[in-house]
Amino acid sequence: MRSLICYVSVHHGNTKKVAEAMAQELGAECIPVKELKAKDIAPYDLIGFGSGIYFSKHHRSLLDAIDTLPPATGKRAFVFSTAGFPAGKFMFHRALKTKLRQKGFIIAGEFSCRGLDTYKIFGTFGGMNKGHPDENDIKKAQESVKGIAKNLP
Ligand SMILES: Cc1cc2nc3c(=O)[nH]c(=O)nc-3n(C[C@H](O)[C@H](O)[C@H](O)COP(=O)(O)O)c2cc1C
Repeated sequence: MRSLICYVSVHHGNTKKVAEAMAQELGAECIPVKELKAKDIAPYDLIGFGSGIYFSKHHRSLLDAIDTLPPATGKRAFVFSTAGFPAGKFMFHRALKTKLRQKGFIIAGEFSCRGLDTYKIFGTFGGMNKGHPDENDIKKAQESVKGIAKNLP
């Protein structure tokens, strides 16, 4: 199985840590979003897309990058994020999942964990979620992608 992970991580590198750990587990290539446009996604069986959550959505640059992709009918994707307050039922993933489905992707799974957040008021006391993603978050991220890959058709 050939897999690719594409991420945006602009606040503290939180999502990059998760993306790289997932890539290590899957033996996947791991690229920042600016490299996605030039990438031929056809050879990949599974593609993961993730970023920090910004105002209840994935980062704008990741959402916009999906528009530049060719149709991906039937291709498997998974979605991940780090957030100050990861929402129940992956609510913050909705916008990205909608865009991916419009391109023809089938969503094979999703993952989210806490990430250090120093935005505005949170920065005044050293940040929310200090130390996250931590070892346990990384372990869960790797277990999550292992499960996703195992359940592919
Ligand atoms: C401008 C800004 C807006 C944010 N909006 C949200 C939000 O709506 N919900 C949330 O849970 N976290 C929010 N966060 C926290 C980030 O999602 C969190 O710190 C994330 O781990 C950052 O990932 P990164 O370091 O990979 O960019 C926000 C952070 C910033 C700087």
